[in-house]
Amino acid sequence: MSHTMGYKVALSFEDGVTRFVTANPGETVADASYKARINIPLDCRDGACGTCKAFCESGSYDGGDYIEEALTDDEAEAGFCLPCQMVPETDLVLRIAGTAEMAKSGIGAFTARIDHLHWYADNTAGLTLTLENRQDLHFLPGQYMNVKVPGTEEERSYSFSSGPDQDQLAFLVRTAPDGVMTTYLKERASEGDTLELEGPIGSFFLRDVKRPVLMLAGGTGIAPQLAMLEKIAQAAESGAQPAFPIHMAYGVTWDKDLVEVDALGRYAERIEGFTFDTIVADPASEHPKKGYVTQHLAPGHLNDGDVDVYLCGPPAMVDAVRKHFDGEGITPSNFYYERFAVGVPHERALHPAGAA
Ligand SMILES: Cc1cc2nc3c(=O)[nH]c(=O)nc-3n(C[C@H](O)[C@H](O)[C@H](O)COP(=O)(O)OP(=O)(O)OC[C@H]3O[C@@H](n4cnc5c(N)ncnc54)[C@H](O)[C@@H]3O)c2cc1C
Ligand code: FES
Repeated sequence: MSHTMGYKVALSFEDGVTRFVTANPGETVADASYKARINIPLDCRDGACGTCKAFCESGSYDGGDYIEEALTDDEAEAGFCLPCQMVPETDLVLRIAGTAEMAKSGIGAFTARIDHLHWYADNTAGLTLTLENRQDLHFLPGQYMNVKVPGTEEERSYSFSSGPDQDQLAFLVRTAPDGVMTTYLKERASEGDTLELEGPIGSFFLRDVKRPVLMLAGGTGIAPQLAMLEKIAQAAESGAQPAFPIHMAYGVTWDKDLVEVDALGRYAERIEGFTFDTIVADPASEHPKKGYVTQHLAPGHLNDGDVDVYLCGPPAMVDAVRKHFDGEGITPSNFYYERFAVGVPHERALHPAGAA
């Protein structure tokens, strides 16, 4: 194909579907997909969030501008790329993190009412919302929404802790000193308030359980994994118990950060082969398991690498776990992770999800 006609980009989705888009000279893969009405996973469109991360199977491209948090040098070296930034220099084949089904639905804008605001301790809030047009929101367990902070122009991302088939939506919010959402929740929020949300977004979501699963959660990083467990539990109750064991290691800093441990106990009853450990880092804690999640993994949990790992938590924890795996020479069959970045680059607020 001649340069002036643009390059053909094959988008290969996880469910085996392949769609083709044409990128004009200088055009990003995300823009070409948008024109073709294919919603590949996107959030910031700015090379900041990493949500669009894909894998290039063949072809060459200019990777564009992005920050290390979105794509590390190692990842870029290995062939990972950011469709919101990359400009093709030849025809390309990209593996997209998502299903073609999901790419059809796209990001929507929603309005919700706060039904319940619950403080587990002074630093973690549980929000339960009733969404208008609930039937129009289809999400995958593990995905997130961008929530506009009432009374401000800011938005913050929160992963569903409720399952995709539950009527109400639930979220867990860890507070940050003087944070915008934190201040709203602590000082102004009340039950009955209206929230505006956009989504669903994200390529961190539960795949079919085809081998043992290891879930690693740090702090409110437990939220998307609760959504995944709910989905697995509902499938189990309709007769499809997972064929492989699922283990979770849930680590927090302080005793008071441990939330929804009762819910994990109930999942252990509903899901055959589901086990979990809770771990507290605070040296002064009397919790039976202390330190970091990586110190409490048995060889069986890693299964010589034949394991699908789901990792979610604050960026420092996510990076530490990835380094630990590299250091131990463990390469899981699949490694999915989400970093709960706080104090995100300012640009992100200027390019809300779904903006064309
Ligand atoms: C994909 C994704 C999913 C997420 N899901 C969840 C979730 O399910 N649960 C959850 O608890 N969190 C989640 N987060 C994090 C969440 O979006 C918020 O970042 C977090 O709740 C803090 O928001 P805030 O408005 O209270 O604080 P912010 O206003 O964002 O401030 C965060 C911290 O940064 C400091 N700060 C802000 N601006 C500056 C600056 N210019 N210089 C120095 N310091 C600064 C603040 O003082 C504060 O301590 C997720 C993040 C991402 C990216
Ligand atoms: S890095 Fe591409 S959408 Fe955020």
